[in-house]
Amino acid sequence: MEINQINLLKLASEAAQSAYSPYSKFNVGACVLYEDGKTYTGCNVENASYGLSLCAERNAISSAIADGQKSKIIAVAIYSPNSKLCYPCGACRQWIAEFSKDAAIIVEDIEENPKSFSIKELLPYSFEL
Ligand code: THU
Repeated sequence: MEINQINLLKLASEAAQSAYSPYSKFNVGACVLYEDGKTYTGCNVENASYGLSLCAERNAISSAIADGQKSKIIAVAIYSPNSKLCYPCGACRQWIAEFSKDAAIIVEDIEENPKSFSIKELLPYSFEL
């Protein structure tokens, strides 16, 4: 499938505007593209009990699952207005690997160009059952 990296990053950046991040003030948005062409977005949601905070990527994937999404993840774009090259955290990498062994992870580089990695590159030898 054709992946429009710029469009996925744009959707992720729009989602980042909804971030609830009063503690870190670090806004993140994610956009997940599935094999059936549907996209889902999410933002980070923090909590006064810091460890309960939810990342943008897991929020987006949860929305897809709640929507009944059964197909494979093709790509995940992650954007933060606070930092270029906003890579997914370890927990989010494991979440993405749950739904695809070859998803593309797209972030924006310092020149504002999309940069793509495979989930295998970012999480080699991932845990699976
Ligand atoms: N965050 C994400 O949303 N995704 C990541 O992959 C890394 C971190 C959020 C969590 C927290 O609200 C803020 O960024 C700072 O850690």
